[in-house]
Amino acid sequence: MCGIVGYVGDEEALPILLQKLNLLTYRGYDSAGIAVSHNGNFYVEKAQGKVGQLEQLIDYSIASGVVGLGHTRWATHGEPSRLNAHPHLDCSGRIALVHNGIVENFLSLRTQLEAEGHTFRSETDTEVLVHLVEKYYDGNVTKAVQLALQQVEGALAIVVLHKDEEDRLVAAKMDTPPLIIGLGRGENHVASDIPALLHYTNKVYVMEDGEVATITKNDVLITNFREAVQPRIYERRVMVIDWPPEVAQKGGYPHYMLKEIHEQPDTIEDTLRGRLLEDGHTDIPDLHVLPEEIRAVQRMTFVACGTAYHACLVAKHLFETVLRIPVQVDVGSEFRYRQPIIGPDEWVVAISQSGETADTIASMREGREQHAKVLAITNVVGSSVARLADGVIFTRAGPEIAVASTKAFVGQLIGVYLLLLHMAQFRPHAHADELQAMAGELPRLAGLVQRLLEDQAGVQDIAGRIAQQPACFFIGRNLDEPIALEGSLKLKEISYIQSQGYAAGELKHGTLALLEEGIPVICLATQPNVYDKMLSNVQEVMARRAWTIGLVPEGDTGSQHLMDDVLTVPRTHPWLSPVLAAVQVQLLAYHCANALERDIDQPRNLAKSVTVE
Ligand code: F6R
Repeated sequence: MCGIVGYVGDEEALPILLQKLNLLTYRGYDSAGIAVSHNGNFYVEKAQGKVGQLEQLIDYSIASGVVGLGHTRWATHGEPSRLNAHPHLDCSGRIALVHNGIVENFLSLRTQLEAEGHTFRSETDTEVLVHLVEKYYDGNVTKAVQLALQQVEGALAIVVLHKDEEDRLVAAKMDTPPLIIGLGRGENHVASDIPALLHYTNKVYVMEDGEVATITKNDVLITNFREAVQPRIYERRVMVIDWPPEVAQKGGYPHYMLKEIHEQPDTIEDTLRGRLLEDGHTDIPDLHVLPEEIRAVQRMTFVACGTAYHACLVAKHLFETVLRIPVQVDVGSEFRYRQPIIGPDEWVVAISQSGETADTIASMREGREQHAKVLAITNVVGSSVARLADGVIFTRAGPEIAVASTKAFVGQLIGVYLLLLHMAQFRPHAHADELQAMAGELPRLAGLVQRLLEDQAGVQDIAGRIAQQPACFFIGRNLDEPIALEGSLKLKEISYIQSQGYAAGELKHGTLALLEEGIPVICLATQPNVYDKMLSNVQEVMARRAWTIGLVPEGDTGSQHLMDDVLTVPRTHPWLSPVLAAVQVQLLAYHCANALERDIDQPRNLAKSVTVE
């Protein structure tokens, strides 16, 4: 998704903007641009392609200024091109604007503005915004932004720089896209995401829906474009972030994705810390659910998108098995439009790494409107998801930079286990011993992941051979099924190999037709209760002479005789196996994409934080 940066202070803005843009590139983008201003010298440059290409185009002899903004664009309206790249300028060339999100009524606004004499140069929805600001400008850029936004429908974050008021930036947020103000000494910053700010400050203000911020080097003034309000005292909502700046660097790894895969033991330990007590009980203060609410809950709906959706599927298996609570799982983009039935005493639980995924947020709002209790498992404190929820389990994965989610997914699984253990304390169930065994095993899990990470020769070899194949399948049953789906998603998104994940028993209902000699099928078989059934499904695959690759617990003998190749994971409680299997399929996808020399951290067409529908 688009990334926004801004700076106002005493330093040269350009290097700061470029550094921050580079730190946002993980969000996915196809073009980039900057604008800086000083003593009436207004310099704008943009480029199709990477930030490096923008850097080559900049004329450093004139690109000077102590205030500026920048942008990485992920195309929605209009193809990736220099013309469609941001910043966009008004007719007079005095106002520069960058935007993340969508202007839903841009066509009618554009027609109206063109009729009023404004000249458009791009195909973007964004350009209407800068012409609207121009239309309403009468010497006060903040006021012009407020009036402009009153005409707009959609979800957006913008930053505006006016040549005639070059001591300030105006930032505004409507609905979902995130916008963070970084508070420095004698300088202030703005960015779409916290990691881009950490080199400059750890004090941040997360803008709320409807807010307009006038940012000068010594001050930030918060107002709201929907109501005529006095400027807000924002200090109360300033957060101090304890992530070190290095979290946004590769730390010696060739890719962020590999670094993040290796950070998973820490994610597990950090997410459990202080919440899982020695006796197996839990202490999760941010969750804000009362024992009587837990006893009363009749049904749970887990909503999420992509990888986070697979964490929801794991939750469904566990919550239904252990607590006998009916659980439905939905992708955010469907849940919000299918008029879901949510009765009294039902909970909606959203899972999201970024906490800014538009469809997940809309699903939470749907739940709220239907009076459900709304909970969340998310990685970002202060995110929209965190703020919308009645209670939260924060996954402590730290910032995830690679587009493909890895450590955040494992953090989400740990969040699911914590919620399960927490609820089990207050509801009668018949799995006390099993649950106790799982809780006893959880503190060992980080060590087991570490062990798995230490020997990647086998997975690397198999991945190198899969890289030569046109397609791949992942199959599994029960708790292995969500990880089959996750493995398939990981592989396709970073290697671009056609890949499908399936419930193993479903193959014969159609998909088996696609199996041919040598096509790789990763067969996950970590669940003892369906192990024999899984091996029968493997036989069906073998009969089509496909290439079977088992993913099984260490010491498993059945698979050694049956499958062509075997990947193992350390033995653990079967309910925790999804974590270890997930790490193994992440490595498989990573090494495969690496063998194919793909752009692993920024796969084509994808964005990190999907803040539009
Ligand atoms: C895949 C991936 C995506 C995200 C999805 C939801 O590797 O990262 O499928 O899981 O876009 O994002 P969050 O968790 O930020 O809501």
